[in-house]
Amino acid sequence: MKILNSIKDVRAEIKQARKNSKSIGMVPTMGYLHEGHLSLVKRAREENNIVIVSIFVNPTQFGPDEDYVAYPRDIERDSRLVEGEGADIVFAPEVNEMYPDGCSTYVEVEGNITKKLCGASRPGHFKGVTTIVTKLFNIITPDRAYFGQKDAQQVAVIEKMVKDLCFDIEIVPCPIIREEDGLAKSSRNMYLNEKERKAATILSKALFNVKEIIGKGEINPSKIEKFIVDTINTEALTDIDYVEIVNARTLESIRKIKGDVLIALAVKIGKARLIDNIRLEA
Ligand code: PAJ
Repeated sequence: MKILNSIKDVRAEIKQARKNSKSIGMVPTMGYLHEGHLSLVKRAREENNIVIVSIFVNPTQFGPDEDYVAYPRDIERDSRLVEGEGADIVFAPEVNEMYPDGCSTYVEVEGNITKKLCGASRPGHFKGVTTIVTKLFNIITPDRAYFGQKDAQQVAVIEKMVKDLCFDIEIVPCPIIREEDGLAKSSRNMYLNEKERKAATILSKALFNVKEIIGKGEINPSKIEKFIVDTINTEALTDIDYVEIVNARTLESIRKIKGDVLIALAVKIGKARLIDNIRLEA
């Protein structure tokens, strides 16, 4: 496996791969990898000749009061892990490789899809994501790119961007990988102390219980949202950012549980802001 830091070196590899008619799968990440990330690498390995994993903590998607500086980094461990999954290339650029001095071009998906849910409490976040993902797509020109359903809004935004900007890239959404007690795996779980880690299980519990309630015939989103809020509030350490039930593709609010439904939440526990969701075909 090669670890490359420059755009020039990656482009040389891509050129060679294309000459040999190889298909390319890419997995964009910010590193500090866990089994969630590795499940994307595994899937990419199954479906492509060449697998490229990018590791880049992208400054433009962090707000001024967010954890850009504190975000955990361990490129050596990450490289070992992706090598174990059979990746061919790690692309780990420095900040000034991706954003050289004077760089002033951004990619922004407009509308509710980026303004709601996480967009409401993290203004500018998705503009940072779509900008860096566009740059990575332009450098790597993958046939397929793999994203986790854990960040359901990110998947919806990227799918819209790919359609709107005519990228010839297949976006492959992959299921959420969880800890044994249900907590969605996240690099940010490391911010939780022991008590907070225990409290965090309430998020997935609330979501799983909702499946049951809907199974029994409840179709009123407000009632379901209230049930989730009440469940999460039984844990004193939680501070709810949002709980919302929306159309999974457009992220618009829905009046009935019908069609492709996303039930998403963001909750602060201690220093961590955790997100989770379930998607239902009702
Ligand atoms: P990061 O948070 O490192 O996540 C990289 C990819 O791993 C994302 O597609 C994310 O949804 C997926 N992922 C994280 N936890 C997961 C889990 N428990 N199960 C399944 N997939 C999981 O998302 C980003 O980085 C950045 O915004 C990025 C797209 C790289 C742009 O900077």
